[in-house]
Order: sequence, then structure tokens, then C-alpha cells
Amino acid sequence: MFYTLSKQSSDKWFTSDAWFNKLYPSHIQTLAHRHWTPLNIAKMAAGFLAADDNVSILDIGSGVGKFCLSAAYFKPGAVYYGVEQRKNLVQYANNAASQLGLENVNFIHGNFTQLSFKNFDHFYFYNSFYENLVDTDKIDDSIDYSGELYHYYARFLYRQLSNTVSGTRLCTFHSMEDEIPRSFCEVGGALNGLLKFWMKL
Ligand SMILES: C[S@@+](CC[C@H](N)C(=O)[O-])C[C@H]1O[C@@H](n2cnc3c(N)ncnc32)[C@H](O)[C@@H]1O
Repeated sequence: MFYTLSKQSSDKWFTSDAWFNKLYPSHIQTLAHRHWTPLNIAKMAAGFLAADDNVSILDIGSGVGKFCLSAAYFKPGAVYYGVEQRKNLVQYANNAASQLGLENVNFIHGNFTQLSFKNFDHFYFYNSFYENLVDTDKIDDSIDYSGELYHYYARFLYRQLSNTVSGTRLCTFHSMEDEIPRSFCEVGGALNGLLKFWMKL
């Protein structure tokens, strides 16, 4: 009974991106169009990544948690983790998780290079390193950016993904595919290739 009431009260946040973005302060809302996964994309991505129950899914660069939180709502049988380098964004993600009453979501403050991918089954990646390559549309000026950092992170992620086990699922959104090893086979997608589903052979 408690679950039903709690779920109903959180349903409204998932009716549109405009509603969901109201979970955050206005300066975070204005970044949504460029930086946070839209709800329909999160729903499709979660459908692929959380095909089985009880799997652990990592969002590499989780921002304010929009992918993890919406995936946790649409596919609640999995546990979602987000790693994010900006501490203030992790705080916004945790605040939103509390407001939504979602318990199958965890946010980690840090660089993804500090994590062992062995702790996770499947992965979501929304072109997180791209900020290093462009001069406009950055989230903020709190970190250093460089082309070298882009290539370092892309290579690091490539090696981590190379070491995953057969059957590992990866979903990319707007990826330039520098981070995807040849051992990952494209098995589906949507939006003319902006969203891609991959499976480790
Ligand atoms: C395009 S946003 C995507 C946010 C979230 N995944 C979503 O879909 O809503 C990319 C995020 O990755 C984070 N990021 C970039 N490089 C990172 C790194 N090396 N370690 C952890 N987070 C990183 C950025 O701070 C930014 O918040």
C-alpha cells in the first residue's frame, strides 16, 4: 500500500522532461537540453540495459542523475549507479533521488577512472568527455578541459570496456565511438544512430 501511494506521487515527474527538470534549480534546468538525457531516451536505454532483473548499471558521468533516476523509475528491477566528477551535481542528484523516493539508485562523487568496472554488469555513456573538445556549451568553468584529457579518458574507457565479460551491454547516446572496442557489436538503436545499443561478444 505504501509503495502504491509513493509511486503515484512520483509519477507526475516522469510525464515530461519539463516536469522532471523542475526537480532541479533553474540554472540546472537550462542545461538540460544540451547535457541531460531526455526521458524517452532513458526509457529506451533502460529497456535494453536492464533486460534482466538484479543487474548493476553504471552511468559514466552521471551529471544531475537524470539517466539513473528515470531508468530506475522505468525499469525498477535493476540497481543504477552514477559516477560524477562535479560534487555539486552529485548533490543535486541525491536531492532528486530523495524527492522521488527511489532507492535503487546510488551516486558516487569522483572520476570514473577511480572505479573498477568489475563491480557493474552494464554501462550507459552520454558522450561525457565531449566538453573537452568544444569551447561553447560547457556545464561550468569548475574543471580543466583539454583535447589531451578527452583522448586520455576515451582511451581509459576503451581499455575498461575491453576487459568486461562477454554479454556486457553498453548503451551510447551521441557517442563519437572513440571509446568503443571492436569486441562490442552494435545490436540496435534509435534516432538515426544517436542512440546505440552494443553487446560484448
Ligand atoms: C553529457 S553529461 C551526461 C549526464 C548524465 N549521464 C545524463 O545522461 O543525464 C556528462 C557528465 O559527465 C561528467 N564527466 C565528464 N568526465 C568525467 C569523468 N572523467 N569522471 C566522472 N564524470 C565525468 C560531466 O561532469 C557531466 O556531468
